[in-house]
Amino acid sequence: MKFQKPKGTMDILPQEAEKWQFVENKAREIFKLYHFGELRTPIFENFEVIVRSIGENTDIVSKEMYDFYDKGNRHITLRPEGTAALVRSYVENKLFGPEHPQPFKAFYIGPMFRYERPQAGRLRQFHQIGVEVIGSQSPITDVETIVMGLDFFKELGITHLKLVINSLGNKKSRSNYREVLVDYLSKVEDQLSQDSKRRLYTNPLRVLDSKAEEDAKIIENAPSILDYLDDESRTFFEEVKRLLDSLAVPYEVDSRMVRGLDYYNDTVFEIMSDAPGFENVLTTICAGGRYDGLISEFDGPLEKDSGFGFALGIERVLIAIEAEGKEIPKTSSLDVYVSCVSKKSEQLAIKVAQYARHSGLKTELETSYRKLKTQLRAANRLGAGFVAFVGDEEETANSVTIKNLATGEETQVPLEELEQYFKEIKEISTR
Ligand code: HAM
Repeated sequence: MKFQKPKGTMDILPQEAEKWQFVENKAREIFKLYHFGELRTPIFENFEVIVRSIGENTDIVSKEMYDFYDKGNRHITLRPEGTAALVRSYVENKLFGPEHPQPFKAFYIGPMFRYERPQAGRLRQFHQIGVEVIGSQSPITDVETIVMGLDFFKELGITHLKLVINSLGNKKSRSNYREVLVDYLSKVEDQLSQDSKRRLYTNPLRVLDSKAEEDAKIIENAPSILDYLDDESRTFFEEVKRLLDSLAVPYEVDSRMVRGLDYYNDTVFEIMSDAPGFENVLTTICAGGRYDGLISEFDGPLEKDSGFGFALGIERVLIAIEAEGKEIPKTSSLDVYVSCVSKKSEQLAIKVAQYARHSGLKTELETSYRKLKTQLRAANRLGAGFVAFVGDEEETANSVTIKNLATGEETQVPLEELEQYFKEIKEISTR
């Protein structure tokens, strides 16, 4: 029998994991500058939490959930995204209280699950870095959060990006627009794709997102949501654009960008990349927007009922980094290789290795007593800086021979001076 990972998942092997750590650490670094704390929620939630926030008629809820009944007959789902969970946690833990900084700002990093058709940069278990700001109604929050995302990409060396923004307006504007759109679409219903026909009655705004060929012309001629914003929504969007302009951030407005989750209002945005790894499809690597109303949906306080956030897919970010040809600094190379040629020297060898590790040096210990030449070759292959030879001679002399692989120089170090010697190596290497 062959054992394989489930479709749409991947193993992140140690060398690859280094790149992940690099990306995650960069996010932590940048988000700290904007004063965000980390919040970790469970990877499964009660089904209702997700449906309530994302919306019953979205693709995520209707087709992509990994949901099941647990042994206590509770309807559970693996989380498909982080916003719903974070808002649930915000309300449940009363993070709106005065003992917490307000507005509440938090980020999360972790796996998400959607039963999608896997392709380049689209998986069933994928990983998001997400951020949320709760309790600010100001357009400054929208812009500050968007530019934090852009800062993060800049720090990673990703420059070929496009920021696209739109406004979905407030509830009233959207409901006016929805009526106009349904009216327009129903007149051409018979020409729409199967999917769009279905969406026309369940989630008409999503028709604008259709990639089906037969829908293209219809969508192109559809009324624009921006023409239906009321004064309040229009002013808010103008303010967002004005602030982006003031920071000289380039962006495009796409009035057909509606996003696939129901909780959004006013500002929505996507950051897109055309990196070759995406097989010539312009791909969204980061997306988000404003979600006023979601906090009260979870019975949170009305005066805090405004949110803004985004999430980016780590797998997609790594594809974009690759396309820019940026080298991710390696952290895995070895400092010391402790060579050991016989069982007799084992006790001294393990002691030497522990001295090195306790001095902060990355150390590998030979465990199979291979020929000395083979061990040296292994040390070189692992990129070790030093080899510590532990053999019969060293055992008798109570000292260790240390070879600097870069210079070829060999030093005899008495055991009682070894820890100090390793500490000096560490000091020189971090200088
Ligand atoms: P989303 O657009 O569904 O938004 O996902 C955000 C990002 O997650 C996408 O742009 C993409 O990079 C990544 N992503 C989504 N699905 C997959 C997948 N199947 N495979 C690989 N990557 C994927 C949200 O999830 C919202 N919660 C964002 C948000 C936060 N809005 C407000 N706050």
